[in-house]
Amino acid sequence: MNYSIGFIGGGNMGEAIIGGLRKSDQQLQIRVCNRSNSERMLRLVDQYAVTASKFEDTVENSRVLIIAVKPKDVLGVLKQLKDYELKDKLIISVAAGVPLKVFYGHLRGVAIVRAMPNTSSAVLHSMTGLVSGENVTEEQIEIGEQIFAAIGKTMWIPEEKMNALISVSGSAPAYFYLFAECLIKAGVHLGLSEEEAEILVRETLIGAGKMLAESDKSPGMLREAVTSPNGTTFAALKVFTDDKLPQTVLKAAQACVQRAEAMEGEK
Ligand SMILES: NC(=O)c1ccc[n+]([C@@H]2O[C@H](COP(=O)([O-])OP(=O)(O)OC[C@H]3O[C@@H](n4cnc5c(N)ncnc54)[C@H](OP(=O)(O)O)[C@@H]3O)[C@@H](O)[C@H]2O)c1
Repeated sequence: MNYSIGFIGGGNMGEAIIGGLRKSDQQLQIRVCNRSNSERMLRLVDQYAVTASKFEDTVENSRVLIIAVKPKDVLGVLKQLKDYELKDKLIISVAAGVPLKVFYGHLRGVAIVRAMPNTSSAVLHSMTGLVSGENVTEEQIEIGEQIFAAIGKTMWIPEEKMNALISVSGSAPAYFYLFAECLIKAGVHLGLSEEEAEILVRETLIGAGKMLAESDKSPGMLREAVTSPNGTTFAALKVFTDDKLPQTVLKAAQACVQRAEAMEGEK
């Protein structure tokens, strides 16, 4: 990648993307500014060889600006950005629940891409949803694609699908972590040590993920293939369906969408 990238915000998500980008490109010039946490900034410099920068240097010296602040802080950043020449820059926002129209309201005519990566960016396995704004050129789309392809897989979607995407990929690593936590607790309840249960669950989840990645079978087909009628897996899965796991998952995904919609309304 032969363009400089500036991060406005180097928190959890910023760091996950920076970590992925640095793993995939040692030479890439990355500037980062945050608000006040100098200890964290020193660690980012040390760990990922980024340049700690002031807001103004980050904006002026980066061809691509990645806004990685909390949704409630986006407006403040947009107000600050008003004072700069942004023509020819690509702005990428990873903020959940901040639609393109909010950006257009403050920065007329700028090229904006909305991105929704997940925290698996840190291990180069983000599944990132991308939405292109109106003024984005083919070349800038290619740049957005390159950045997020460097940290995992990408999917370009229309903006009206963004909140659905957040509910099944942006927020979803946490759902799988929760399931892993529950299974570890169940293992301990059934007599395993915490350490044993954690190794067993972690490795099983990694293996199931690899099966999903490498097999040409759907998740349903993989499940059926390991479920003998009236066997042990069958007995466990029956409890999940009897206790309405599918409905619970749907309700959780809907709650995620509703929260994203409410956040849009808060702008
Ligand atoms: N976490 C996820 O799984 C995930 C997934 C997809 C998208 N996102 C999105 O990623 C965004 C960031 O979330 P996060 O979890 O990384 O938040 P976070 O850990 O709180 O980090 C926010 C960062 O923004 C900085 N900041 C705030 N205001 C600023 C300003 N005016 N100028 C420069 N820097 C500023 C903060 O600096 P200080 O620390 O110095 O205050 C901090 O470095 C959110 O909008 C979220 O919707 C998160």
